[in-house]
Amino acid sequence: MVFKRLREDIDAIMHRDPAARSRLEVLLCYPGLHALLAYRLSHGLWKRGWPTAARVVSHFAKVFTGVEIHPGATIGRRFFIDHATGVVIGETAEIGHDVTLYQGVTLGGTSLDMGKRHPTLEDGVIVGAGAQVLGPLTVGAGARIGANAVVISDVPPGATMVGIPARIAGRAKKSMEDDFCSYGMPGGLPDPIANLLNGMMDEMRRLNARVVELEGRVNDGGEGAGDGATPRLVEDTARDDARYNV
Ligand SMILES: CC(C)(COP(=O)(O)OP(=O)(O)OC[C@H]1O[C@@H](n2cnc3c(N)ncnc32)[C@H](O)[C@@H]1OP(=O)(O)O)[C@@H](O)C(=O)NCCC(=O)NCCS
Repeated sequence: MVFKRLREDIDAIMHRDPAARSRLEVLLCYPGLHALLAYRLSHGLWKRGWPTAARVVSHFAKVFTGVEIHPGATIGRRFFIDHATGVVIGETAEIGHDVTLYQGVTLGGTSLDMGKRHPTLEDGVIVGAGAQVLGPLTVGAGARIGANAVVISDVPPGATMVGIPARIAGRAKKSMEDDFCSYGMPGGLPDPIANLLNGMMDEMRRLNARVVELEGRVNDGGEGAGDGATPRLVEDTARDDARYNV
């Protein structure tokens, strides 16, 4: 069970960090993974009613990794903190599955109330470097928070938020099935040559269909001369010639 979960964590990192070369490298050199493993221990102690022991574990994890995760926080599966350092996750923060944070992120509170005072991040959220997400707000599934943004209100699912205070920017993701994009950047940047070729292929397909249709009409016209098919063909061809400046 423990090893299965560890393997899942490492695979998630390999998938999301193009710089990761091997599982061994991830296991040895990723403080985000070390912080997560320490959190699992401290969270277990916290749930068993040993808060001081839990805080001690989380304190040592902070010293070694630069990531402070309060043992009371709730974190889902395949959580990844890339370049983990300077990250703070508060006591009542709730983090869903497949969430990614970069360095310098705070999931912090804005009040001294004892109740829920830290954010909730739903599944698949990406929070860019240096972003501050503050208060008991909810960041909807698949949303992306831009580097250095300060989020102080709820974020709709799939939205991209930038600036201070954060506002919606860019397009919403089509669905949760969209692939993870490292650094929050969508893959498949527009390639003008590929776009041109795709356009030409579409046009060739359209013209091919048109030729087949016209051939059919010519054959029909040949069999039943005088039924008006041939003049219509001439008209259509003239219209196409005009359309394509032939
Ligand atoms: C927010 C982010 C996900 C947006 O990516 P995108 O969908 O490709 O968006 P675009 O680059 O098209 O930008 C959309 C708009 O937001 C602005 N913008 C993008 N990132 C921004 C940021 N961090 N802060 C302020 N504005 C930002 C752009 O200038 C653009 O503004 P415009 O519409 O007025 O021209 C991305 O820019 C980002 O910050 N990712 C985090 C990366 C990170 O932390 N990397 C750490 C690696 S170590």
